[in-house]
Amino acid sequence: MDFPMFHLDWLNDRFLIAMIAILHVIINHGLAVGFIPFVTWLEQKGVKNSSSDQVTDSEWDKMAYKLMWTAFIITTTIGAMTGVGIWFSAALVSPSSIGSLIRVFYWAWFTEWVVFVTEVVLILIYFLTWKSSNRSLNAKLKHIRFGWFLAIFSWITMAIIVAILGFMMDPGNWQTERSLLSGIFNPIYLPQLFFRTPTAMVVGGTFGLMMIMLFTKKGSDVRNKAVRAAGKWILIWSPLALVAAINYYHVMPSAMQANMSTAIGTMEFEQYYTVLKYLIPLAICVVLIVALWAVIKTTRFKAYMALSAVIAIMAFLAIFERVREFVRKPYVIGNYMYSNLLRIEDYPLYKKDGILKHATYTSVHEITDNTKVEAGKNIFMLTCSRCHTTNGVNSITYVFERMYGAGKPLNEDDMEAYIPNMHEGRKYMPPFPGNKKELRALVAYIKHLQQTGEVLEGAQSSGVVINPDNSTTSVANHIEAEKRKTENKLVQKK
Ligand code: HEC
Repeated sequence: MDFPMFHLDWLNDRFLIAMIAILHVIINHGLAVGFIPFVTWLEQKGVKNSSSDQVTDSEWDKMAYKLMWTAFIITTTIGAMTGVGIWFSAALVSPSSIGSLIRVFYWAWFTEWVVFVTEVVLILIYFLTWKSSNRSLNAKLKHIRFGWFLAIFSWITMAIIVAILGFMMDPGNWQTERSLLSGIFNPIYLPQLFFRTPTAMVVGGTFGLMMIMLFTKKGSDVRNKAVRAAGKWILIWSPLALVAAINYYHVMPSAMQANMSTAIGTMEFEQYYTVLKYLIPLAICVVLIVALWAVIKTTRFKAYMALSAVIAIMAFLAIFERVREFVRKPYVIGNYMYSNLLRIEDYPLYKKDGILKHATYTSVHEITDNTKVEAGKNIFMLTCSRCHTTNGVNSITYVFERMYGAGKPLNEDDMEAYIPNMHEGRKYMPPFPGNKKELRALVAYIKHLQQTGEVLEGAQSSGVVINPDNSTTSVANHIEAEKRKTENKLVQKK
């Protein structure tokens, strides 16, 4: 509550991060982490399969170069921008959690930036020296070694970030040890890294397969060989990815597994969960069948097959990331901070004093009949707005109407009875942190929303109002008063 609340009232704040992050993961896994080793492997194959008087098979090498060209353009533009974009959007929507994460992972993030910048420089070098390396075998072999080196760097950038993602799901021993190392080696870290590594290879191979179909001529020798190679690459990495996926599912705490049905399908489609959850194995099957076809029916392989594998694997990644983000709820940092950005350990204080008293930014700090709705708005912003909007995606009036009957006027008493227990039935929601008066203000505001259809503007458009209780002058006055008190005591003692 120490930061102004950015809010997108139609799109939903979670959506903003999700769109940027999912695009980034697709590019990162598909065109960097899994793709660079794939391209380097192809480059190496070109040298191996060429006759002894050549440096490399020039047709084959041209194809590998075109693949790298595509990855180079996309990773250094959209890839890099969305990577930084995740942290910008997450810091806007969820500043307190990013604040906490930076305190724990300061050196990890510092290393990440260094490794990331190095990776970009290495990609530049690898791509720009490709053609000139073809003049001698020595230079070519060096270039290939460089490719493997770059592949390792791409992997390290992912390996660092995965530690933070795992930490957010389950901080493990960090809760008691509070050290960087205990944060990094949280219970989810290695299983998730073990899962993402082969999965990225599968995604990279799938993207590669699609590009091979784009950049080679129908029926050509190069196409046939490359399609078969890509198919093999996918098939080799798939079993590892599968084993790692099962292992990863088993290390997720059972509370998270209970969130799965809403995570995959939202509540609307919860009843279809049994069907929806088969979409994941279905996507994997599509990729496997396409890869198998590429290997055994190479000459009859078609571009649309590669395209379906690409679509299936992108859908798989998108669902995977959504589920990973969702199952963690009600926490943004497991057992430490709720998704409404309030720390668990501060809850007793909020329950006692109310949250408005401790909010730095609120336009109301004392609830009266006149300020009730305005107070409710601030309370909504502080406790519900990270996941709900007023009228947009996951709208608060809509979820209440769904419970009590669409179109019917909402009943304040019903809502007042429901909210203090909402975390019991819907485990993905944090408990309501405020006091009784604040609860009544919140339901008055929700009712007002239903009646007026009013939209809620975030701090980015409405500006901020500082809580007079928490302004610098009032805090300074408070300190001054405390000082005077102790001074008086000392004087009296004398
Ligand atoms: C951590 C995110 C999060 C927070 C914070 C949150 N909710 Fe929710 N809420 C959800 C999700 C997700 C759903 C389910 C939406 C769906 O899938 O349809 C939901 C559903 C609901 C429902 C419908 C439940 C049902 O059984 O149909 C109500 C009512 C609700 N929220 C009220 C609130 C109120 C009031 C607040 C603030 C005090 C709040 N929520 C805070 C995420 C959140």
